[in-house]
Order: sequence, then structure tokens, then C-alpha cells
Amino acid sequence: MLLDGALDRPAAADPAFRADVLAGLATRPRAIPARWFYDRQGSELFEAITGLPEYYPTRVETALLAAHCGEVARLVGAGRAVVEFGSGSSAKTPHVLAAVEPAAYVPIDISGEFLRASAAALAADFPKLPIQPLEADFMHPIDPPEGIARLPKLGFFPGSTIGNMVPRTAVNLLRAMVETLGEGAMLLIGIDRIKQEDVLVPAYDDAAGVTARFNLNLLERINRELEGDVPVDAFGHRAIWNDNEARIEMHLEAIRDVRFTVAGERFAMAAGETIHTENSHKYGPRDARLLLRAGAWTPLREWTDADGMFALILAEARPAGTAP
Ligand code: AVI
Repeated sequence: MLLDGALDRPAAADPAFRADVLAGLATRPRAIPARWFYDRQGSELFEAITGLPEYYPTRVETALLAAHCGEVARLVGAGRAVVEFGSGSSAKTPHVLAAVEPAAYVPIDISGEFLRASAAALAADFPKLPIQPLEADFMHPIDPPEGIARLPKLGFFPGSTIGNMVPRTAVNLLRAMVETLGEGAMLLIGIDRIKQEDVLVPAYDDAAGVTARFNLNLLERINRELEGDVPVDAFGHRAIWNDNEARIEMHLEAIRDVRFTVAGERFAMAAGETIHTENSHKYGPRDARLLLRAGAWTPLREWTDADGMFALILAEARPAGTAP
């Protein structure tokens, strides 16, 4: 039985979303964590981004996986549990699963909805593979499910998602991954490289305006879920290369003076003021290896494309040695 008006009511807002948005709009510089991009609309827009001509990371990384999975499998050996941090993407994960002959596959994601959808899609392609989705926040150490705990593990963290964290958070995550996977585990990670600004900026500000819609959807989500009245048409999408921090930054810039209300709180922004919505850090070859070492992973092998756009790195969690 449907209760009166149940279909019209918006989904209950996540209290953490509310808290992050209110705090992020009140601080200077204004900033809202990028994780809130990914409601249903945002996730669909991100899928569309991965197919854009300017957005090279998905294309290049998928080609690297297709070309080098055999070698990855030789280095990793059969019988590991593959633990993917984030829901398995339809294009990338099958390359790894087909090559490494895993004993089990454990996708971890904070969103149960995407987790179940991607697990179901992979189960159809790998009917004999035990798949145990885990709904959890992988930023913290996680106890693997029964039956998986004793298996040697291969972590899989594609897409350069590590780049969406500031380096200190990235290091904390890498260390949490060692705790989740155990010593002796391996990690296959995709990391985007520093390159010319005229390639980087269009990747985050495409001609078709899909990334702009992805960024602006955050304001639409605020209006949908937090009783907001943000005038979305008063904001523009900005993608800038911050060379000092080696990152692309996405911002939402007020193109005129605006006033709006979110969850009963009032805000005003002057034309030209921005809300910082995402960082996408890029790493040179040595930077990426140093990041992994700081996160307690020893790089073993690295693959990159002919133009050095993107790197796929295999690393191992070794016990700490004695420093000289
Ligand atoms: C998910 N993440 C790795 C993407 C990136 O490239 O930083 C998110 C994205 N933002 C805009 N375009 C893509």
C-alpha cells in the first residue's frame, strides 16, 4: 500500500550531505566535497564523461589494461581475491577478472545501489566466480567477508580516483588499503599523469558541456534534496589547472550576484565568487611512485601508453624494512 503522496516526496536527505553543503557554503573559500556529485543523475553524467573525446583517462587506462593484463596475471598469480575499491566499471573490471583467474571478487562501495548493479552485471559474465559485494566506506580499514579473509588479495583501484584526494588523504587511503588487504597483498592502481594544460583543461571542460552539467548537477541535487532554491542558471562551470598543486580544480562560479536558501539557511555570493567542487591531482612518474611508497606500497611494475598520458602501476604491500 502506498501512503498518501509517497511518490511525490523527495528521498530523505542524507544528513552528511546536508552538513557538508551547509558547512562548505559557509566557509571561505567555499567548497563542497566531490563525493556528493554521484547521485543517480551525477553517476549517469560521469558515465557520459568517460566516453567523451576529450576525456582520455578512461580510454587510455582501458587500453592499458587490455594490453597488459596477461603480464599482470603472471606477476600476481592465480587464486587471489580481487578487491575493487569503488563499484566495478563495466569496461575495466572484466579485463582484470578474465586475466588473473581470481578465487573471488569483492567490490566495495559506499553506494549499495551501484554496488548491486555492477555486481549483477559482472555475475552474468563470470557465472562461476564467487562475488561478495561489500557496502562500506573504503577510506577506512574494512574486515573482508568470511571465506575471503585467508585468501591472498589483489586490490584494484582504477580511474585515477586517488587523484580526487589531496595527497595526505590519498596516503591515508593507501595505508587503509594495506590494512584491509593484508601484508603480501598486491595493488593494481591507475594514476593520471601531469601533462600539457591544453590537454588537461578540455578533459574537464568538454565542448559538448557534459562536464559542465556534471558540475552544475551538484546545485540541482542541493535544490532537490535540501529544499534549496539555488538559481542554477546563475552559475558557470570552471575547470582550471593549478600548477602549484598539480591538479585540475573544478569550481562553480556565480556569474551574477546571487542570494539563495538551502535547508532554511540563507547565503549570498557576489559575481565571480566560486564554490570549489573537485580536485583531480595528476602525478609525474616519480611522484606517483613516491605517493605509493608513502602509503606503504612498493611499486613493482608500471605500464604507460606511448604518450605517457596515464600510468597503471602494480605494487606490493611489503613489511617495512629497516631504513639505512
Ligand atoms: C572519478 N574521477 C577520477 C574523475 C576525475 O577525472 O577526476 C571525476 C571527474 N570529474 C570531472 N570529470 C571527471
